[in-house]
Amino acid sequence: MNTVKTGTHDFVVVANRLPVDRVTLEDGTAAWRTSPGGLVSALHPLMQASTGAWVGWHGAENEVLEPFHEDSIDLVPVPLSSADVRLYYEGFSNSTLWPLYHDVIVPPEFHRTWWVAYREVNARFARAAAGTAAPGATVWVHDYQLQLVPKMLRDLRPDLTIGYFDHIPFPSTDLFAQLPWRSRILEGLLGADLIGFQRASDTANFLTSVKRFLGLTPRKGEVRRPGSGRSSRAQTHPISIDAAKIADLAASPAVQDRARQIREELGNPETVLLGVDRLDYTKGIRHRLKAYAELLEDRALSVGQACLLQIASPSREKVDSYQQLREEVEGTVGRINGEYDSLAHTAVRYLHHSYPTEEMVALYLAADVMLVTPLRDGMNLVAKEYVQARFDGGGRLVLSEFAGAADQLGSAVIVNPHDIDGLKAGILEAVNMEPTEAKRRLVSMRRNVQDHDVARWSRRFLASLQETQDDDASPHPGGPGAAGTPEGGAR
Ligand code: F6P
Repeated sequence: MNTVKTGTHDFVVVANRLPVDRVTLEDGTAAWRTSPGGLVSALHPLMQASTGAWVGWHGAENEVLEPFHEDSIDLVPVPLSSADVRLYYEGFSNSTLWPLYHDVIVPPEFHRTWWVAYREVNARFARAAAGTAAPGATVWVHDYQLQLVPKMLRDLRPDLTIGYFDHIPFPSTDLFAQLPWRSRILEGLLGADLIGFQRASDTANFLTSVKRFLGLTPRKGEVRRPGSGRSSRAQTHPISIDAAKIADLAASPAVQDRARQIREELGNPETVLLGVDRLDYTKGIRHRLKAYAELLEDRALSVGQACLLQIASPSREKVDSYQQLREEVEGTVGRINGEYDSLAHTAVRYLHHSYPTEEMVALYLAADVMLVTPLRDGMNLVAKEYVQARFDGGGRLVLSEFAGAADQLGSAVIVNPHDIDGLKAGILEAVNMEPTEAKRRLVSMRRNVQDHDVARWSRRFLASLQETQDDDASPHPGGPGAAGTPEGGAR
């Protein structure tokens, strides 16, 4: 671990979490390990090529850490107290914004104390970023927990180029209208030069809200601030996966052996159906279980012939709605298994764990049908990982129209998870799909994922961000390529 010199970084990423996990080594000492996410692998080369730093929370409450260096990245930890975690993270981020931005699947709660904490923590992140960035640096802020950071940072450091990417959906204007602090959030985002969204509909929702609540008129995705000489652009940049990493793992004999072993452990059913989700009410797990149970009831599927493997990774366990969801899901799994299991076979194999990427890829290879059926999802990278892992052309993907990934993976069996009969029909269509048809669809989806991996996503976002500066310097701001949806037309 080296010390990190602050104020010298020309590329700074700001996200709620640092891309590292604390691990305990064999000798009992604590160390950091880079977390396996696609965002980290996409940004890693950029961080190394420039003087890069990542600003974020390190995951422990009430712990103040000095900046440190791990796996070639300079990390700048932002401390959160227990009260911050309760009010800013579990409260405003995950009990106000998260449900509001996901179609109010559970009712959002609006508390002024949570808002105050959100503002304070966002200001702390903005100060940390301002202290880290070199003069004229590029700062890329990520996600809904930090929507006020772009403006706060702009006020502290007008010299910076600031990008923001929203990983989750941006809600329709009528839902966003509920938020008592809606204008402050929009102002916060407009501190960025470029604001990126997953789907064209998210970009459109944002621009409509800007017009309705701030009275500004966007033109071709560009929002000009009268009097300030500044403008911001909103664009669609759908995120993706580290396609090469998933392909390498899928080609590994050890991973393929593990996939065979998983099928054996399930009793070698004809059809393995797989769901892999964070245990979150947005993921549609209850609807999926209902559809599957009805298929067993209708005898369209039978235990022994089919098995649903549902991985539900623990998430936000202190938030009430997540605790309630866990009880409901686990109660439903128990009822389905009680009703349909035989001594030899189980209807649903449910696992409340997280797994490393190797195991995930083995699960993908073991599954005949992948069920990605969220009620609302910004993107859903599991869908992209599944198609990329299936180099054998053997898998079938059932995908919700409410996942951002549906814009790129239109060859999946597309379903509306609220329509239980439609969901059942979609599952059966996938189960019974002719191998040649399944392969045709997979080839087309894999091509899309391979051509649009996460490295291309970050390159394109940063190139568009740079264009905002080039255009600002040129006599014709807002010219061709200045706004709109660079990735939008492809879907
Ligand atoms: O974009 C949604 C997201 O914040 C992801 O970045 C993250 O993987 C997931 O939700 C869970 O986040 P957390 O455990 O930090 O609440």
